[in-house]
Amino acid sequence: MWKPADRIRWKSSQGRLPGSQEIADSLLFSPLEFERLNLRNRTWVPAMVPWRATEEGEMTEEVLAWYGRFARGRPAAIVVEATGIRDVPSGPLLRIGHDRFIPGIKKLVERVDEESEGQTRLFIQLIDFLAIRRRPSRDKYINRFLEISPQIRRTLGLEENEEVEVRKALLNMDDEALKEVLNTRDWESLMIGYRERVTDLHLPHIRHLPEVLPELFADAAGRAEQAGMDGVELHYAHAYTMASFLSATNTRNDGYGGEKQNRLRLPLEVFEQVRRRVSDRFVVGARFLADECIEGGSSLNDGCYFASEFARAGMDFLSLSRGGKFDDAKQPKIGQAAYPYTGQSGYECMPQYLSDGFGPFGRNFSATKYIRTSIRDAGYLTPVIAAGGIHNFEISERVLQEHIADIVATARQSLADPDWVRKLQGGFGDQIRTCEYTNYCEGLDQKHKQVTCQLWDRIDKDTPGVLLSRDGKRRLVAPDWEPSDPRPEVDRTE
Ligand SMILES: Cc1cc2nc3c(=O)[nH]c(=O)nc-3n(C[C@H](O)[C@H](O)[C@H](O)COP(=O)(O)O)c2cc1C
Ligand code: SF4
Repeated sequence: MWKPADRIRWKSSQGRLPGSQEIADSLLFSPLEFERLNLRNRTWVPAMVPWRATEEGEMTEEVLAWYGRFARGRPAAIVVEATGIRDVPSGPLLRIGHDRFIPGIKKLVERVDEESEGQTRLFIQLIDFLAIRRRPSRDKYINRFLEISPQIRRTLGLEENEEVEVRKALLNMDDEALKEVLNTRDWESLMIGYRERVTDLHLPHIRHLPEVLPELFADAAGRAEQAGMDGVELHYAHAYTMASFLSATNTRNDGYGGEKQNRLRLPLEVFEQVRRRVSDRFVVGARFLADECIEGGSSLNDGCYFASEFARAGMDFLSLSRGGKFDDAKQPKIGQAAYPYTGQSGYECMPQYLSDGFGPFGRNFSATKYIRTSIRDAGYLTPVIAAGGIHNFEISERVLQEHIADIVATARQSLADPDWVRKLQGGFGDQIRTCEYTNYCEGLDQKHKQVTCQLWDRIDKDTPGVLLSRDGKRRLVAPDWEPSDPRPEVDRTE
């Protein structure tokens, strides 16, 4: 992963632990009600892909255990990982692109309800993504994938030659010369791996995205409701299709690109179709970027505009993230695919403990506050969700007190300790395992390995009945925690 040049080591901490009165008076533990969204408090586990579904995108015991374990910690809400809305193979990522996935998702709803004793609302993140290929070897690319265009022939002066001879000539060139001959896209496909873009209007399936996506998202949302989910989060963030429509890099000339009003068009059409498909009590919100954090990308002002329009359209929540783009991703090794969290924008999305002077905690706060203020000024009360490096009561409470957001999302802290909210509430704050922001978990995600946390994945792993990773080296869920000695509810601030 990209690291800031200063590489300052930051240390997370438990912060000041609240006593029972402070908990009772806190905003973090106050309920939230907005239209159809009602939460028992402001704690939220945002989407995290654990790479635990089957190759066919079906539910597994490992997926159920992952969410069941979060639910035992009783956050107010959990958002299930980015789940594919199409019925196409996409590796061990959860899918909801066909009715056959409904029974599996239903099991997940039941598991979370059981483990949280009905206290946790469950939403599912709906994602569409475009094709991306692994970085090929030079030989393979030139011999098999590269289309020999008239322009390549012309540049080489081999207009009349057999294709095999043209390929041979290209293979014999050094990189510098080859770069001169290939166009930018072909060169990128060789160096990074082929990746489709929403601007590839010459490809019919990309051109027709605005016609097919509203229906695909609506069908998926309908299935989520049938399975018993409380709502959906439309994934309009990071490196995926809908975020690419919102991006300032979207230059489509068919009315769905260019000016920000046009870039917003498809995301709104998707939302409207989803809203029409589901019942009135079903929650529909979106996750999108406060800032793309790439050169030429959408800025905070775009983020404000999108937020106001989403609020005006009637979204139930706005979850703000940051960065996470392919545009500045690192070159992958041959045989591997580019990963959108390896560049600077990826760092902004999931910052780790080696950081700059600002540090990894709350890098999206000022942008989130700016957006929240702008939608409040426009008269909308839509709840806003903040994420990024939040790991203790003090920071969470500050987010709410300072009107940065209305809900506090903790991804890695919840992975490090799924019971952290319960521990706080019960006066066991000193037993919280605090995330160290090493990004070991994110490294597993990058390798498409089952995601775990280094703070607990070797603890008591040989105990009978413990669910283990495919290689048997790691336990898949955090060890159980129950309050051993019911502590008197003392004020721990003294
Ligand atoms: C392993 C892993 C998987 C993630 N998967 C998703 C995802 O599916 N969808 C999403 O919007 N964000 C995803 N994220 C980003 C998190 O939701 C969150 O925005 C980010 O980690 C920053 O919050 P944190 O500092 O509390 O971890 C993932 C993060 C991690 C660590
Ligand atoms: S592996 Fe655990 S401690 Fe490290 S960043 Fe991930 S959740 Fe935090």
